[in-house]
Amino acid sequence: MTKLAILFYSTYGTNHQMAEIAAEAARATGAEVRLLRIAETAPEAVVNGQDAWKAQAERTADIPVATVEDMEWADAYLFSSPTRFGGASSQVRAFIDTLGGAWFTGKLANKAISAMSSSQSRHAGQEATILGLYTTFMHWGAVIVAPGFTDESIAKSGGNPYGYSHTQGDEFTEDAKTAIGHQTRRLIEFAGKIRG
Ligand SMILES: Cc1cc2nc3c(=O)[nH]c(=O)nc-3n(C[C@H](O)[C@H](O)[C@H](O)COP(=O)(O)O)c2cc1C
Repeated sequence: MTKLAILFYSTYGTNHQMAEIAAEAARATGAEVRLLRIAETAPEAVVNGQDAWKAQAERTADIPVATVEDMEWADAYLFSSPTRFGGASSQVRAFIDTLGGAWFTGKLANKAISAMSSSQSRHAGQEATILGLYTTFMHWGAVIVAPGFTDESIAKSGGNPYGYSHTQGDEFTEDAKTAIGHQTRRLIEFAGKIRG
């Protein structure tokens, strides 16, 4: 059984929704799933100073925070991060910065991995954010499982072959949900092939 860690950071809820859709699709395959939020690093006063940010923090308070142990446990990872000026959020990067020891001892190698992203404007960093994460994943020796155009839902939901990406505020259409589910199932399938 594949052990999948779905790791997301979400200020306003978009990536949280994407992660929940992925988790549902993953559980339906019989995979063992850990839905994990990446820890907030912004000061509490800043979070509480924005109603939408505060509400999202409260909505996810019960979701376990991702740890290095989760990374060692899983044999597949799905990351989901908002775009911040064309790259992953600092919260995601801060978590990645805790993984030096796991990387050094080979615990991140040969794991199947994929990523999703969102931004406010459609052409303002979604692909760059995913590709930036993939650069990091290559350092780990993880095996990137991009969706490509292996399902028609990908073209119908924005057409990002690197990983599903969402424009904040857009509806999660059936095609979008199918594309996220497809990316997740493909990741699980390849994790199984890697395990042999
Ligand atoms: C500091 C900062 C930088 C951002 N940079 C971009 C950007 O480069 N392009 C863009 O379209 N949206 C940008 N955004 C908007 C976020 O990407 C958007 O709010 C996010 O994808 C929503 O995801 P969430 O609901 O999971 O937080 C930025 C937001 C912040 C706070």
